[in-house]
Amino acid sequence: MQNYIDNAVEQFRNLLTEQIERQKKMESESGATDFSKLSKIVIGICGGDGIGPIISAQSNRLLNFLLKEEIASGKVELKTIEGLTIENRIAKNKAIPDDVLEQIKSCNVILKAPTTTLKGGTLESANVAMRRELDLYANVRPVCVPEENIDWTFFRENTEGEYVLGSRGVEIPDTLAFDFKVTTNAGTKRIARAAFEFARKNGKKNVAIVTKANIMKKTDGKFSEICHKIAEEYPEITVEEWYIDIMTANLVNTAIRNQFEVFLMPNLYGDIITDEAAQIQGGVGTAGSANIGDKYAMFEPIHGSAPRMIEQGIGEYANPTSIFKATEMMLNHIGFKKQADLLNKALKICTETEKKVVVTGDRDGATCKEFADYLMETIENL
Ligand code: IPM
Ligand code: MG
Repeated sequence: MQNYIDNAVEQFRNLLTEQIERQKKMESESGATDFSKLSKIVIGICGGDGIGPIISAQSNRLLNFLLKEEIASGKVELKTIEGLTIENRIAKNKAIPDDVLEQIKSCNVILKAPTTTLKGGTLESANVAMRRELDLYANVRPVCVPEENIDWTFFRENTEGEYVLGSRGVEIPDTLAFDFKVTTNAGTKRIARAAFEFARKNGKKNVAIVTKANIMKKTDGKFSEICHKIAEEYPEITVEEWYIDIMTANLVNTAIRNQFEVFLMPNLYGDIITDEAAQIQGGVGTAGSANIGDKYAMFEPIHGSAPRMIEQGIGEYANPTSIFKATEMMLNHIGFKKQADLLNKALKICTETEKKVVVTGDRDGATCKEFADYLMETIENL
């Protein structure tokens, strides 16, 4: 037992040193990429696992269609990134194999299809690794239900909290297990600033900070304190603080839920509550997600790789709406607003008003490709 304790103490010392270094590094960095100044933008497309290659193939077609001129002139390059598959990751025993990471880092932005995340073991999630390696600190997830006047934007801290050391906990067999949760000053400041800047630029009047600071006193306590401090620089915005449990209830309370506009929260709470929010919008298949850093950004659907659909042989019937929404967010981020708006309009027509081709996720519905054809036809007629 003493041996386990000694090892764990040593491990904790190393983790602490490493995390202090990470916070120092963050403090010294600043400045987001100005995409309008780049002579060329490289978009990497990762196919992922399960239904990933099926839905990302349609996003690839859509990007070729929407950015035809930019691709022809050399302003945009689409790059297919191979090897971010669970088979390759297990074979190399790396969350993102080195050569794959190198390919990813040669792009400016990434459109990533879902990848399999294993439960237990030590192989880290590819999402989590990519968010860390590219320092994608703001996970931004919009959810809209126009008929209920719901227009929510979630700002989920994306590089720390429960996730940063989630694969590096301590276990003493048959006795106990310990995980670590980390909140840093610099990490909290940058996500808080991203949320308040978004609110200011988009005329939002309300930011809800969501924590469990009554229980997670050190980490969430720090998160809450720093967010309130940053909020002082935005006096036109009202700040509220809610605990995650009651906020989860608020989202199903139809009497009050449309009062919320922007949510700001640590990583794990953001993970959980954004699935709930997406379900209110029509399911996790309908929501896109942006992972934004200063240098890189990655866009992805919020759903998983749906291995059950592949086992049942119905992968072709997967709903591509979520990856198309991620594609729209990516186009906006890199400055192709006109194309993003076209995609947005066409998605509304195809999934809300006209619905001539409907994907149900099963054989009774359209295939992913048929829906993409319908979407592109709709864009052509706009
Ligand atoms: C998400 C996903 C990921 C997460 C998984 C796949 C690691 O659920 O993007 O919300 O937990 O962040
Ligand atoms: Mg999630």
